[in-house]
Amino acid sequence: MFPETSPASGYNERKTQRQFMGQVLAASAASRIEIVHDVGSLRARLAQWRRAGETIGLVPTMGALHAGHISLVREAKRHATRTMMSIFVNPTQFAPSEDFGAYPRSLEADAAKFASAEGDLVFAPAIGEIYPPGFATLLSIGGPATAGLEDRFRPAHFPGVATIVAKLLNQCRPDIAIFGEKDYQQLKVVTRMARDLDFETKIIGVPTVREADGLALSSRNVYLSAKERAVAPSLFAALRRCVHDINDGVIIETALAAARKTVAAAGFVTDYIEARHAESLAPVTSREEWPVRLLAAATLGKTRLIDNIAV
Ligand code: PAJ
Repeated sequence: MFPETSPASGYNERKTQRQFMGQVLAASAASRIEIVHDVGSLRARLAQWRRAGETIGLVPTMGALHAGHISLVREAKRHATRTMMSIFVNPTQFAPSEDFGAYPRSLEADAAKFASAEGDLVFAPAIGEIYPPGFATLLSIGGPATAGLEDRFRPAHFPGVATIVAKLLNQCRPDIAIFGEKDYQQLKVVTRMARDLDFETKIIGVPTVREADGLALSSRNVYLSAKERAVAPSLFAALRRCVHDINDGVIIETALAAARKTVAAAGFVTDYIEARHAESLAPVTSREEWPVRLLAAATLGKTRLIDNIAV
């Protein structure tokens, strides 16, 4: 599971030259952007900011930036005087069968986008900065992390996410950290972990940014064929219909069954479409158990999409 045996090490070595080019390109996009690859340089810069009385906002990402990530940057800028983004494709949150190797990597373009959004610093750690040789620690998490949603289909995912986010919060010590509601269970897992481990960072959630046809922006949308891309919005359309029906008085389980049928008919293989309490993620059967959130995961061809909506 850990990176000594993962393809990440070779990848990061090969990337050194391109990362340098990324710095040059990003510098031409906006001269104020700074890219650091090691924790020592990061902490030196952050300490300098702190001494000057600045506050720090962190946007953790795996890169392949799109407008959803940029909306997180904008939110960070509303809460802090300095905004930093981490870009790291985290091997421990991918199962061996998943797309760690194929995950889109584009540091140059990402740094330029972040610069255009007037971010201040990119932290693109080398693998050894995150997982030093002999690394042997993984957070054990419950509550929202074991709600029976993503965790049922990706059992190693949230322990990997919680561990990398805890490390980033320790390395950066930001005042605030921003996460998208797009990964709703992740937002709840991170909020719980930060509370339980006494991180002083305030965790802030941001609504999902969508294409005009409703498809949630995702770095994985690039995997969709043209035909699949045309069908993909039907997942969110089914969730919206479901919310409408529930608010019209249809019993939750009946509305969910209709949504599952519609999504299957559109060509998805559904992992789950469920109604949960929006905070605890515990199952709900009635909208009286407010606030309720619908959460879904379904695969179209080779691409697994997740989405959610408030009732
Ligand atoms: P990544 O998938 O790159 O997403 C980074 C952040 O962007 C997450 O908080 C995610 O919820 C948010 N995001 C993605 N698509 C969005 C959209 N359409 N609208 C709004 N926000 C969106 O999530 C991760 O990386 C990783 O698990 C990470 C937290 C960085 C840990 O490795």
